[in-house]
Amino acid sequence: MNMFEAARAVRAKAHAPYSNFKVGAAIKTASGAVFVGCNVENVAYPEGTCAEAGAIAAMVAAGEREIAEVLVVADSPEPITPCGGCRQKLAEFGGSNVVVVLAGLDAEQARMTLGELLPGAFSTAHMDTNMGDG
Ligand code: THU
Repeated sequence: MNMFEAARAVRAKAHAPYSNFKVGAAIKTASGAVFVGCNVENVAYPEGTCAEAGAIAAMVAAGEREIAEVLVVADSPEPITPCGGCRQKLAEFGGSNVVVVLAGLDAEQARMTLGELLPGAFSTAHMDTNMGDG
């Protein structure tokens, strides 16, 4: 199954009764494996998790840590992009050249890189060069 079909299939399983906005994400790793996740909302709204976070958790649980490509699918006429928190989560495991494909239910809508989505990302380099007083 390709990334688009995988993300569409997992999107259908999303638990999104509060926003009614289902999202599916697929992450391909350096090994070629594909991991998927969907958004899981909660009655305590801030406890909900995004599709990207679910896919990252599945990837790490399987012992993989190197993101090669990301695809996000939602039922939206305009491409939807990962939220700010998920951009940082993706940057933990993927370089700035990693492509994030943004798709509607029928087809790909746009492509961006992680570097475009999160310019100036906080990284370990900041901690190495700016030692705190802790
Ligand atoms: N959501 C995602 O899962 N991924 C995104 O990239 C954008 C937003 C979810 C969070 C929430 O469950 C719903 O979409 C509406 O914001």
